Amino acid sequence: MLLKQLQITNFRNLKNVEFTPIQGVNLIWGDNASGKTSLLEAIYYLSHVRSFRTQHVSDLILRQTPYLQLVASIQSSDQQAIPLGIRRSLNKSQIRVNKQPIKRVSDIAAQFPVLAIHPDSYKLITGSPSERRQYLDWGVFHVEHGFFRAWQRFKKALMQRNAALKSKQKHNICQLWNTEISNTAHYIDQLRHNYFEKLKPYFNHLTEQFFLDDIVSIEYRRGWTKDKDIIQLLEENIQKDRLKGFTSYGPHRAEIIIKVNGQSAQTGISRGQQKTLVALMRLAQAMQFTEATNKPCVLLYDDLPAELDINHRQLILSVLSSMNIQLFLTAIEKQQIDLSAWPIKKMFHVEHGRLITKS
Ligand SMILES: Nc1ncnc2c1ncn2[C@@H]1O[C@H](COP(=O)(O)OP(=O)(O)OP(=O)(O)O)[C@@H](O)[C@H]1O
Ligand SMILES: [Mg+2]
Repeated sequence: MLLKQLQITNFRNLKNVEFTPIQGVNLIWGDNASGKTSLLEAIYYLSHVRSFRTQHVSDLILRQTPYLQLVASIQSSDQQAIPLGIRRSLNKSQIRVNKQPIKRVSDIAAQFPVLAIHPDSYKLITGSPSERRQYLDWGVFHVEHGFFRAWQRFKKALMQRNAALKSKQKHNICQLWNTEISNTAHYIDQLRHNYFEKLKPYFNHLTEQFFLDDIVSIEYRRGWTKDKDIIQLLEENIQKDRLKGFTSYGPHRAEIIIKVNGQSAQTGISRGQQKTLVALMRLAQAMQFTEATNKPCVLLYDDLPAELDINHRQLILSVLSSMNIQLFLTAIEKQQIDLSAWPIKKMFHVEHGRLITKS
């Protein structure tokens, strides 16, 4: 679960970079446009097979080159070295874990859990509910077994039901998938609920330290009416669903509601407060993960000095230094981040897409 080595080829402005981080804290510093975010993005890509900045692979491949490649060695919790590799061209993707080709992105994600906090992360609060479902499901996937299969089954049944609704099939045809949806929905809700209940104490403990004068609350909503059975809702709303062309209730409509002093965090707090809250949501997730699984995970924190004021920055650094994670931080100047709380650290300087190890 630790990144031991990464060879980056043609990823953004990183043409050929060899990166050997340490287990504790790794600080990457350099001027604007040197390639700091790209380096974190490459690590993230290795785990998620997507970027946190773009949906288009064409943005990621170094211009005028045919493909990007990431070859890594990660260390599993039982000290085994596991090779991971991704080669991505515009129309072809090859992923290898332990030298074996794999088809499902989840197979690489399971080997290498990575969380990121970056300047656009506030969208976790201001963006659509799907962002918050993704947040929740990262943890459910890594902590609660059985989630991935249940989700695949649910998604398949939902797609088929929605296709029937859209093409205005008869009621009895549209209802065919209700049982499968209902069974998987219950299971998904149960796993999400379990995970959320484990996550909440970590989140609450952090927000109490950072929001001294405010009351922050977080709540999970499963995607269908409280005290009602999903199968009943599917049956009752079939006419409405046929008109809309999609299924109104289910785990695909789940949501996380965050409030500060009773007001929605989407509209009631400052951007800086939103950024702090999102950082705490991710830290809570990393803490819960490492304690529940007894394995470290990777946390990427892009541009920390630009994100937080000096008090919050110090507080976050002190929380980070107490966590069992492999941490990657970026800054423009290395003096902007006080790493005195870490006994060992490694520094990297990025200059025009080249990486120079400093210590
Ligand atoms: N596909 C690509 N091919 C080549 N260069 C690219 C590609 N995509 C982005 N770049 C360039 O890579 C450079 C590094 O970008 P990056 O966002 O990593 O910089 P940064 O060090 O994080 O800067 P900042 O401090 O401003 O956040 C930029 O100049 C960007 O224009
Ligand atoms: Mg950047």
